Amino acid sequence: MNKEERRNKLVEKRAESKLGGGEKRIEAQHGKGKLTARERLEYLLDKHSFEEIGAFVKHRSTDFGLDKQHYLGDGVVTGYGTINGRLVYVFSQDFTVFGGSLSETHAEKICKIMDLAMKNGAPVIGLNDSGGARIQEGVVSLGGYADIFYRNTLASGVIPQISAIMGPCAGGAVYSPAITDFIMMAENTSYMFVTGPNVVKTVTNEEVSSEDLGGASVHSTKSGVAHFTASNEINLLNDLRDLLSYIPQNCEEHAPLLPYDLKDESREVLADIVPDNPNQPYDIRDVISGVIDEESFMEVHKDFAENIVVGFARLAGRSIGIIANQPAFLAGVLDVKSSQKGARFVRFCDAFNIPLLVFEDVPGFLPGTDQEWNAIITNGAKLLYAFSEATVPRVTVITRKAYGGAYDVMNSKHIGADMNFAWPSAEIAVMGAKGAAEIIFRRDIAAAEDSEQAWKEKEKEYADIFANPYRAAERGFVDEVILPEETRPKLIKAFKMLENKVDTLPKKKHGNIPL
Ligand code: HXC
Repeated sequence: MNKEERRNKLVEKRAESKLGGGEKRIEAQHGKGKLTARERLEYLLDKHSFEEIGAFVKHRSTDFGLDKQHYLGDGVVTGYGTINGRLVYVFSQDFTVFGGSLSETHAEKICKIMDLAMKNGAPVIGLNDSGGARIQEGVVSLGGYADIFYRNTLASGVIPQISAIMGPCAGGAVYSPAITDFIMMAENTSYMFVTGPNVVKTVTNEEVSSEDLGGASVHSTKSGVAHFTASNEINLLNDLRDLLSYIPQNCEEHAPLLPYDLKDESREVLADIVPDNPNQPYDIRDVISGVIDEESFMEVHKDFAENIVVGFARLAGRSIGIIANQPAFLAGVLDVKSSQKGARFVRFCDAFNIPLLVFEDVPGFLPGTDQEWNAIITNGAKLLYAFSEATVPRVTVITRKAYGGAYDVMNSKHIGADMNFAWPSAEIAVMGAKGAAEIIFRRDIAAAEDSEQAWKEKEKEYADIFANPYRAAERGFVDEVILPEETRPKLIKAFKMLENKVDTLPKKKHGNIPL
């Protein structure tokens, strides 16, 4: 072969590798409203930044006629590129090749970029679109999955891992995304389940569609498996780019700090959000948006466990994680799902050096058999444990109720919060005045001529003492009582003051979070 022929061969191979499973299958992919693996990468990454690795890899299978069926790349496009100029490693499964199914070599390609990502400290983004283990390959394909799961686990807390679900994700294939930090799903074109509708029908006789079993809507509202959903793939990829802007490259670094010039940072809009009547709800998102940099809130798990609101935001250009009780939903009570949601978010932020800001308005834990039988004890403890173990800068603002165990759990000073502010509307007590009066003044109330009136008086007595932030401030459990409109400048200063915080945990192999 002369030089010219050698060059031509390379050009031919490159062209072949770009074709995936062929024109027809690409058309079918488009027909379903889906982009191809390469189109997704082109959209996700900065222009011309993608460098492919392993484009000519072929599978090694010979059973079931596979020796006659080869596609260069073997159903997954892998490599690296940049997003807003920052390095990321990517894999994008190609449904046009054996339904994006995972062969031994397909898995090896993914593992290779995961290993590079770990050594070079940069995020891994997986664009999943796969029928699961390549059925013709048997155990080597299962082994390939396990190789990925193992790497996902070792990489957890070291580099951010993000899974975008762009098509089917069935069987054990769901467990790699599940170990990653965030799962994003595209509505109507992606679904995730351990066992599909056919198996469900056989085993439980239940008839259910793929969408109802594991579509984006189900996983974003009922199971909480999906952290983000988008109306289509393009919006999903835009969200993914946005998400990365809040997080650092690895656990040794900080998230990008955007330039910001301080001006008058007080915000009058915050003054009238909390109603005078303590039983009247308000939307904590109004407080959040009043405090943070304009339009900077990226909510996580938006439609799941809505009694707690979590997400990323910026404060004077600094990336922060917000955890806030939501009085507009179930009065902001803590329950099983909201505890899980909050805990998971706290763990991510702490692993990746993102300071935590808590807005607290919580009447307590939700009572009842449903909660007790579903282990509110264990699940509430997750949130408590997650906050207690977090070593990032931690600031709390009590906007109204801070009752009972929930006062302790929601980033109190006692479990390591660095700064704790309270608004004048704060009520910090073991429980609400009505319930407290009923318990501690039961005899007085029963003995009174007008017990209803006596109860009211005792309720007022308890409220006068505790339905304010000053008892806690006298003890130093609250560092400062501030006006709502002062909150933003106070927080900007507090996080600036805490930016070099160093805190360490006792030496141990690892803790035993109540999972
Ligand atoms: C090999 C596969 C495949 C697979 C799909 N294909 N899944 N090839 N192994 N797992 C092939 C099909 O044969 C077909 O090839 C092409 O991909 C497109 O598939 P279709 O069925 O035509 O597409 P669609 O109708 O969109 O249905 C997609 C699908 C379905 C829902 C994903 O293909 C499906 O149910 N596949 C099997 C899912 C599954 O049970 N996987 C194993 C899970 S167990 P042609 O040549 O016709 O185009 C598992 C264990 C992991 O993953 C364990 C880890 C612990």
